[in-house]
Amino acid sequence: MATNRTFTMIKPEAVAKGYTGKIIDMIIGAGYQIKAMKLKSLSKTEAGEFYAVHAERPFYGELVDYMSGGPIVAMILEKDNAVEDFRTLIGATDPAEAAEGTIRKAYATSKGENAVHGSDSDENAAIESAFHFSAEEIVG
Ligand code: CMP
Repeated sequence: MATNRTFTMIKPEAVAKGYTGKIIDMIIGAGYQIKAMKLKSLSKTEAGEFYAVHAERPFYGELVDYMSGGPIVAMILEKDNAVEDFRTLIGATDPAEAAEGTIRKAYATSKGENAVHGSDSDENAAIESAFHFSAEEIVG
């Protein structure tokens, strides 16, 4: 059964370029409620752990360097069908393939520097949310 929460990060290049507010606006405009949010820097170890599923991919080292290279904004978001609808809202991994109106079409630079992360399943949304937030940091 689909849950109503997903996890996202606004990635370092989007934060550095000043897109945080515009991206949050798009997220709220799409009907999501923010249940938890923080600005934080990831160490290389944390970035490596978060993306451990990609450890065998050729871009893993680049991904870890990039994600630990500047602050990110982590959020837990709530809405019906949260995970699937959020994947639609952010668009394809490669911004060149992202649909008009999506966050990545508007703000991503490349496949690697693609502005936002969105969980790909309910299970991963729960794991990724717990990676960044304690229960006390999540509003009811
Ligand atoms: P994200 O949705 O956060 O999940 C995995 C990340 O790996 C992805 O976004 C991209 O930032 C990155 N990624 C995926 N494919 C590539 C690629 N071909 N080259 C570089 N980075 C990639």
